[in-house]
Amino acid sequence: MPLKGLLLAGGHGTRLRPLTFNGNKHMIPIANQPMLVYGLRHLKEAGITDVGIILGPITEGIREAIGDGSAFGLRVTYLVQGEPKGLAHAVIVAREFLGDDPFLMYLGDNLLEQGPKEYLDAFRGGEVSAVVGATPVEHPSHYGVVELDRDGRILSIEEKPTAPRSNLALVGVYLFTPEIHDVIRGLTPSRRGELEITDAIRGLNERTHRVRVVRLWGWWKDTGQVADLLEANERILASRSPPYFENRAEVRPKARVIGPVRAGPGTVLEDGVTVQGPTVLGARVRIEAGASVGPFASVGDGGIIRRATVRRSILLDDVVVDLPGTITDSIVGRGTRIGERPGPEGGRTFVLGDASQLSI
Ligand code: DAU
Repeated sequence: MPLKGLLLAGGHGTRLRPLTFNGNKHMIPIANQPMLVYGLRHLKEAGITDVGIILGPITEGIREAIGDGSAFGLRVTYLVQGEPKGLAHAVIVAREFLGDDPFLMYLGDNLLEQGPKEYLDAFRGGEVSAVVGATPVEHPSHYGVVELDRDGRILSIEEKPTAPRSNLALVGVYLFTPEIHDVIRGLTPSRRGELEITDAIRGLNERTHRVRVVRLWGWWKDTGQVADLLEANERILASRSPPYFENRAEVRPKARVIGPVRAGPGTVLEDGVTVQGPTVLGARVRIEAGASVGPFASVGDGGIIRRATVRRSILLDDVVVDLPGTITDSIVGRGTRIGERPGPEGGRTFVLGDASQLSI
C-alpha cells in the first residue's frame, strides 16, 4: 500500500505577527527557503509521491511556491481546512484524499534534522498502528507529552499538561495507519476547542497497544515564536555543507569572505566588506562599503546592506539596511527600509505595521 503525505500549513500564526498578517507562517524563509519546503523534502525522502497540503485562513504564497509539486518530484493536492479546528480535524478534512492508505503527517512549522528513516523502519519492523517521535525538552508543558515505561511502551500521553509526567515532547511528525480515522471520528473538542491529535494517538493506543515511539537523535524545532525561527535558521545554516554553499556573487578584490557563504546570481560584495559564514545571500543582493554580514545571516533577494553589521538575522526580500551599528537577532519583513534620519536634529522616525517589535 502506498504511503501518502499530509503536510499541515493551516492555523493563524498569531505569535509570529506582524510577519503573518499578510503571509502564511509556513512561507517564512529559513536559510532563504520557505519553512514548508523542509517538510516536503522529508516526505519525498520517505518515498512518497502524493502529498496533501492543508491550507488554513491565510494561504498567500503557498500555491505559488509549491504549485502542483512537480518541482519537488511530488504530486500535491490542496485541502482547504479554513479555521484551525485542530490537528485531528485536519485529518478529517483530508479523509477522502487519504483513502485507506497509511500516511506520514508533518506539521509544517516543525523542522527536524533527521529524515523519516527511523519512522519507516519502525513502521516496517512489525505490526504497528502508528509511529510517533519523542525527544526530551526543557519545557514539556508547551507540547504534547508522552510517558514511557522501561521498554518504551506508552504509559500516558497528554496535550500541554500543566504537570507533565515526563520531559518527552511529541514532535510534529506522525505515521498513521488508516485505523486512526475511526478513533478521530469519536473525538470531542479539547479545552482549547480543538480536535487534538494527542487524544487520537492515546485512543488508538488504548485500542490496539500498537503505537510505537521513536526517540529522535537529531535536533528538532517547533517554530512557534520569533526566537525559534532564528534558532532554526542558525541550525539549518550550521548543518549545511558544500556544495550547498555555492558562492555565485561577484566578489570585489578587497571584499573578505570567511567560511561558508552561499550567494545567488547578480549579488555583489563590494571592496572593504566582510561576509562571514555560515550565511546565505539571495540573488541581486548588494553588500556595500563598510558593511559586515554574518555569521548566521539569511538575506533575501534584492537586499542592500550599507555600513551596518548584520548578524544572526533573517532579512526577507528587498530589505535595505543603511546605518552604522549592529543588527542582530532580527527578522525583517519584505521591502522594509532601515536607515538614519537625515538632518542634525536627532529623534527617531518609524513607520511600523501593527504588532511590530522594535528594540533600540
Ligand atoms: O510541534 C509539536 C506540537 O505540535 C506537539 O507537541 C503537540 O502535541 C501538537 O498538538 C502540536 O502543538 P501546537 O500547539 O504547537 O500546534 P499548532 O497549533 O502550533 O499547530 C501546528 C501546525 O499545524 C502549524 O504548522 C499549524 C498547523 N495547523 C494547526 C491547527 C490547529 C493546521 O494546519 N490546522 C489546525 O487546525
